[in-house]
Amino acid sequence: MIKIGHVDVSLERRQLYLKGEPLHVGTRAFDILEVLIKAGGNLVSKEEILRRVWPETIVEESNLQVHISLLRKLLGDDRGFIKTIPGRGYLLACPDEIEGRTGTRRSKSANEESLPLSNVPPGHMPLIGREKALGDVKSALDAAPLVTLVGAGGIGKTQLGLEAARSLISLYTEVRYVNLSTVERPESTLNAIAEGLAGGRSKGVVTVACLIQAIGCRKTLIMLDNCEHVIQEVASICEQLVESNPNLTILATSREPLRARFERIYRVPPLEVPSEDAERDDILRCSAVDMFVSRAHVYAPYFRADGESTALIGTICRRLDGLPLALELAAARVAALGISELVAQLDQRFCVLTGGPRTAPARQRTLKAALDWSYQFLCQQERTVLRRISVFRGAFHLNAACEVAALEDLCATDITEAIAGLVSKSLLMFAPSGSLMTYHLFETTRAYALQMLVESGESEIVVRRYEYFQSTRGAVTDESNTTATLYDQTSLALQDG
Ligand SMILES: Nc1ncnc2c1ncn2[C@@H]1O[C@H](COP(=O)(O)OP(=O)(O)OP(=O)(O)O)[C@@H](O)[C@H]1O
Ligand SMILES: [Mg+2]
Repeated sequence: MIKIGHVDVSLERRQLYLKGEPLHVGTRAFDILEVLIKAGGNLVSKEEILRRVWPETIVEESNLQVHISLLRKLLGDDRGFIKTIPGRGYLLACPDEIEGRTGTRRSKSANEESLPLSNVPPGHMPLIGREKALGDVKSALDAAPLVTLVGAGGIGKTQLGLEAARSLISLYTEVRYVNLSTVERPESTLNAIAEGLAGGRSKGVVTVACLIQAIGCRKTLIMLDNCEHVIQEVASICEQLVESNPNLTILATSREPLRARFERIYRVPPLEVPSEDAERDDILRCSAVDMFVSRAHVYAPYFRADGESTALIGTICRRLDGLPLALELAAARVAALGISELVAQLDQRFCVLTGGPRTAPARQRTLKAALDWSYQFLCQQERTVLRRISVFRGAFHLNAACEVAALEDLCATDITEAIAGLVSKSLLMFAPSGSLMTYHLFETTRAYALQMLVESGESEIVVRRYEYFQSTRGAVTDESNTTATLYDQTSLALQDG
C-alpha cells in the first residue's frame, strides 16, 4: 500500500482508501495518479500524462486538469501532494517532503546517512580566515533557495563555496558541484549543468524540464561555479529550478550577481590585512598574512616571518588587497626573489606575479589574466570609465568620478551607469560614508586600469582634469595623488606592460 498523506493507494486493486474506507475514483483519474506515483517524485509533462492515460485518443488538456482537480478533492487536506509545475506538468511530491513540511520528517536510515551522493572534491588545503564567512554563507543557504557568492577574481569565491558545500553534505540527499568556467557558449550552459549533474553521462538535447525531472524532489544542493560569463542563462535556469522544487538549494559563484528572483547575494570580502602602523603580533594575526606565510612555506620551506620580514609581509598583503590569488602568486615568488625584492617589485606586479600552478585555470595563472577575464565582460563605457578613474588613489565620491571622467564622449549619466556596472562586476569597491557612497579600486585593479589608461593615450588629459578638479574642489580622495606621483605611476604602468 502506498501512502499519500492520510490516503492509502493500492495499485493492484486500483483503489484508494481513507481510514480503511474505499474512496470512489474514476479510471482515468486513477491512471493519472498511477503515472505520477511511478514517476517517483519526478516531474511528468502534460504531454506524457496524456499519452500514457489516453494512448489511442487525442484529448484536450482541460480533461487532464479536470481529473487532477478530482484527485486533489479526494486527497482533501493532502491535496498539496500533487504539484502543478506551471507550463510543464505535474509531480507527486515524495511523502518524505510533505512529512518534513508538517514537522514529522522521517529520520534517515543509517544507510542514507552514510552514503550521501556528492561529487564535491575534498579540500586539500585549509581554508584560512573564513570562519565567519562560512557561518554567514550557511545561514544564507538556510534562508534562501539561491545564494550567490559574489566578488572580485581570485578573492576566494570557489574555495568558500566548496567548503560550505562540504560542510553541509550530511543535510542533503545529494550535493552536486558543477564547474561552468569551461562553458564557451551561452547556449551550452544547460547541457553543461545537465552533464555536471549526471556525472558527465548526460547526452542529447536537454531542456529545463529534463533537469527538473532528473533532480526530482530529492533534497539537493547544487553548486554552480563561475557563472559570470553565462550569467543570463544561469539566472533563468536557476529561477526555473528553484521554482519547481522546494527541496532544491543552489549555491552559485560569480563575479557579478545573477539578478535572479529568490537570489540572496553574499559579497565575499578580501582576507584581513594589517594597517600600516600595525605591531608585529597584530600583523601575524591577520588572515592574509597567515595565508601568505603558509603558502610561502610550500615554495620555500626555510622561509620564516622574522622581525624584519614581518613588516614587509604586512606591506605585501596590504598592497595586494588581501586577495588570496594575488597572495598565492606572490608567495610563489618568495623562493626566487626573497621578501625585500618582492616588495620592491610590487610596482610591476603584472610582470612578477605570473607563476601560478600549471594546472590552475588559465585565468588564475597570472595576476593579469585574472583581471583580463573580468575586463572582457565590461561594455565599452565601463572600460572607459574604469581607465579614467584609475587616477584616484584611495576613496572618492561619484561627483569626483563624473568630473574627471567626463570628456566629450561621456556625460555624467553615462558615468554613473558605468560606475554602477563596475560595482556590480566587482571591479570597484564601495562603502557608505554618511549619506554618500565612497568608491575605491583595489590597488591591483587600479594598476591594471592605469596601464590601460596609458595605452589609450588619454592619460595626459585625464590627469589634467584630475588636477583641475583637485585645485577647484580640494582633495577628492583619502590619499590624493600629487601630479608628480601620478606621472610616476603612469610611466611605471608603461614599463609594466
Ligand atoms: N581562504 C583561503 N585560504 C587559503 N587559500 C585560499 C583561500 N581562498 C582562496 N584561496 C586560494 O586562492 C586562489 C583563488 O581562489 P578561488 O579560486 O576560490 O577564487 P575565485 O574568487 O573563485 O576566483 P575566480 O573569480 O577566478 O573564479 C585559489 O588557488 C585558492 O586555493
Ligand atoms: Mg571561482
